[in-house]
Amino acid sequence: MKYRFGRPFPTDAVIKQVPLSSGSPAHFSLSREGELVTLSYPLSEGDAVYGLGEQMRGMNKRGWRYESWNLDDPIHHESRTNLYGAHNFFLVFGRECFGVFVDCAGRVEFDVGFTDRNVLAVTAKDFDLYLFEGASPLEIVREFRALIGRSYIPPKWAFGFAQSRWGYKTEADIREVYENYEKAGLPLDMLFLDIDYMERFKDFTVDKTRFPDLKAFSAEMKKKNIRLVPIIDAAVKVEKGYPVYEEGKKKGYFCTDEKGKPFIAGVWPGNSVLPDVLNPEARRWFGRKYKILLDKGIEGFWNDMNEPVLFYSEAGLKEALRLASETKEIACLDDYERVSHAFFSLQNNDDDYRTFYHETENGRIVHEAVHNLYGYNMTRAAAEYFAEYAPKKRFLIFSRSSCVGMHRYGGIWTGDNSAWWSHLLLNLQQLPGLNMCGFLFAGADLGGFGGDTTEELLLRWLALGVFVPLMRNHCNGSRPQECYRFTRTDVFRNILGIRYSLLPYLYSEFVRCAFENDMLFKPLSFCYPEDRRAATVEDQLLVGDSLMIAPVYTQNAAGRYVYLPERMKLIRMKAGDRFTEQVLEKGEYYIPVALDEVVFFLRSGKVLPLAKPAKNTAELDEKNLTWVKFTETPVQFTLCRDGGTSEIGKEDFETVTVEP
Ligand code: GLC
Repeated sequence: MKYRFGRPFPTDAVIKQVPLSSGSPAHFSLSREGELVTLSYPLSEGDAVYGLGEQMRGMNKRGWRYESWNLDDPIHHESRTNLYGAHNFFLVFGRECFGVFVDCAGRVEFDVGFTDRNVLAVTAKDFDLYLFEGASPLEIVREFRALIGRSYIPPKWAFGFAQSRWGYKTEADIREVYENYEKAGLPLDMLFLDIDYMERFKDFTVDKTRFPDLKAFSAEMKKKNIRLVPIIDAAVKVEKGYPVYEEGKKKGYFCTDEKGKPFIAGVWPGNSVLPDVLNPEARRWFGRKYKILLDKGIEGFWNDMNEPVLFYSEAGLKEALRLASETKEIACLDDYERVSHAFFSLQNNDDDYRTFYHETENGRIVHEAVHNLYGYNMTRAAAEYFAEYAPKKRFLIFSRSSCVGMHRYGGIWTGDNSAWWSHLLLNLQQLPGLNMCGFLFAGADLGGFGGDTTEELLLRWLALGVFVPLMRNHCNGSRPQECYRFTRTDVFRNILGIRYSLLPYLYSEFVRCAFENDMLFKPLSFCYPEDRRAATVEDQLLVGDSLMIAPVYTQNAAGRYVYLPERMKLIRMKAGDRFTEQVLEKGEYYIPVALDEVVFFLRSGKVLPLAKPAKNTAELDEKNLTWVKFTETPVQFTLCRDGGTSEIGKEDFETVTVEP
């Protein structure tokens, strides 16, 4: 059922025509305050609320408030109400079972039992509301996903291991990382180029002194089965003679201020302008710029700073400077706070988002009303151009900011996390919500982006990362955290090797989930809906159809408590495709987990294909598989055996019958 409130801006999140229903939506009571509409639902004691994608605070969202307002918060704590994505789908599971999608380009508030533990309230203006009824959470998710279209599938090599760091500056730096991985016998598929590869942070330029011949370098690396993946930022440097700036300005492709002049804000390159990716013509123009790097043999990108981040607006900075220069002396705390506030409030200031405009097919529109569509459309720009550039080829593209709808064009990473144990758990808890919204290709910065990681934290994080589609170690200028930096290189080698052993399973299940609108990561309650204990488990996940994981996420742990919702087989992997197994009955267990192993569980009646560990995805032997089995009757498993770089067809699936 679809209901309309106000005049929603078309987000293109939904790909099917749904007729508008009359009357008011079931389940909710309605109230209005000006243009704002609030929908309220009385929560019963046992009701859980799942969804909202990348938001903080657990899989069951009940007990906190959340906002969809895409924002960069590089040091996000538990009190954060909004992050990089707008993922406005949730479902209520308890006394009733229904799903809700708030299709809205602007700000949405979700009070999920925050003001009143027993009331769920959604507040927004100008939106379409979709209601989904179904017998189970999974059925509702499938219905929703069918409505928003098939999830993005990256090339197979993007499922390999990736090393990144904001700090690699030159070709020599990248080569050194490669050589160290090689020397240490550590598997690797991708090396990431952060902003320093550019000429003074200018999009679609390459600093010639640092990377004299990127085309030759990328070809050389590709021969070694390594892909270079450069970053692209949203903001374009204001600089005379810089073709991207000059061209965009001449054609009117940048967002404009009230007077119709390009809106200027500060990002990495200093004063910058924002490509108007909501203007279809400007979006096409920006997308075509990726050609510059595609022509150099680049096949993957990450799109960043596209919430979009504004370190300051030109007008805001001027005002803060004026205030500071007028303040002749700081006589009291108030003086200090006035001046410091003027500067601290410059970044991502809500007022600034009200002062610039987009030229859309629906006319000129203030950014605030369409804020959450920016990163989505920047990534769409790239993906639409890739489809023109090489129609059948799959490229890697993922974005920091996103909105439902973007899941068809690219994946995401969950932004700037920290080297904290709590963010390891957050990583796990974000995954099902993201899958519900169609984001299957996702991952967090393993080891933590900000702050100093430790060998123990990184190893534990990798033991989760081996199951996550985007497996990238990325950090900023903190302690170097490449896998060869620590004492136990052999352990890192083994754990990365396990990722490659798991790849036939992960990849096949990923593709199946994309085609069947399924979730790769499910909370236990989605598969064991009658089990009250399963409903409270916040630190375990089902991965695909066969596995359950229960990663360790605390310091100095020797293991952890695990709940088994059914009889399962515990699998312990230390190295290679070798494993030990132990059958456990349904129940609660303390499971020892050493730092040098990956432990997980195989469900009853299921099987798991394992390949031999490989150096990279190109060298992975997917023909000779070992099957881990927990079955007394023959079981079928469908492998996806496509080449990994072009469209996937029916002929690429092979259903194997595995004998007990
Ligand atoms: C942002 C990104 C981070 C990147 C940095 C520099 O903080 O989230 O991943 O390393 O910018 O480009």
